[in-house]
Amino acid sequence: MSRWGKREDMIVHEAEPYNAEPPPRALADRALTPVDTFYSRNHGPIPRLDPRAWRLSVDGEVERELALSLSDLRSGFEHRTLTATLQCAGNRRAGLIEVGDIPGEAPWGSGAISTAEWTGVRLADVLGAAGLGPRAAHVAFAAPDVAAEADPPQPYGGSIPVAKALAGEVLLAWGMNGAPLPAVHGGPVRVVVPGHIGARSVKWVHRVTAQERPSDNYFQATVYRLLTADADPSATGPGDGLSLGPVAVNADILRPGDGEVLPAGATEISGYAFAGERGVARVDVSLDLGDSWVQADLDERADPWAWRLWRVTLDLPVGPAVITARAWDTAAACQPESARHLWNPKGYVNNSWARIHVIGRD
Ligand code: MTE
Repeated sequence: MSRWGKREDMIVHEAEPYNAEPPPRALADRALTPVDTFYSRNHGPIPRLDPRAWRLSVDGEVERELALSLSDLRSGFEHRTLTATLQCAGNRRAGLIEVGDIPGEAPWGSGAISTAEWTGVRLADVLGAAGLGPRAAHVAFAAPDVAAEADPPQPYGGSIPVAKALAGEVLLAWGMNGAPLPAVHGGPVRVVVPGHIGARSVKWVHRVTAQERPSDNYFQATVYRLLTADADPSATGPGDGLSLGPVAVNADILRPGDGEVLPAGATEISGYAFAGERGVARVDVSLDLGDSWVQADLDERADPWAWRLWRVTLDLPVGPAVITARAWDTAAACQPESARHLWNPKGYVNNSWARIHVIGRD
């Protein structure tokens, strides 16, 4: 077992702060990602908090400020369990780095995405107990982990629009896959914002603030924003670029692995597709760079907030082959073909077609 209870074969991009993703084959064909396999993205040191001492304050544009212990949360509100996929905005950045350098950012492959069953209470119920004021347009989250990379160094935070905060799927979660939420994933309590970039699912949350404006935290105002290709990220400041929230349709191939040599003939290909709030409608797979496509089978939808695993069996030719996959969402939006036109200086939102190279053996 490697650090933080993770499997030995995690691809560790950074040991401190801990940033690691599972190899693609470890995510394949499993609707729920085991905790030891779930990717982990941290901007600062992982705090070890005593669940008995943990308190959540709810303040800002509310009628009543609240200070809740973990047992207040458990006993005062209806419990809700849902399956939701978290995807980092930097998932599949490696494909953008192939197009052009992205200094200072980890080369995440296809594994900065994972799916778990989360248990907690609805954020909407807690906000309901506090009574939202008429000026509340955003709900901000604050955590205790201090990120040295922030300028100036500051604790992690972020916010979501109030309409999302009041949607029943946003949780204050203390459980992950039926066990207490481990420290590396935000225990004792984290926010889970299904369908939005992982950055908004603030771990170790200790403060929820209703406010008129989005959070001015570095990770909301400056990071996790899509800059234009010609922008200099060291010269950008709060409010520059597009704020990232709901995720765009995306997919990747998990099996076979890129570069694998395997017997030619009938070959099963499988992967994930995720479209957040819109949902995945269809996945196509091609052996001729997209000139023709075969539709993959989608697994049963476990939960509207979870990825769809897909699989298809194709006749792999002898010799080198490229396997391409693309997903469509329920608005009939499709992934863009090439990462070349998506490149951006921080390397976010690579949702270009998935491609792997394999060799069919005679
Ligand atoms: N919350 C805190 N407090 N600190 C962090 O560094 N990282 C965010 C989010 N919540 C982060 C955080 C990012 S960028 C992502 S993608 C997800 O947590 C990752 O969650 P995980 O580590 O449980 O996979």
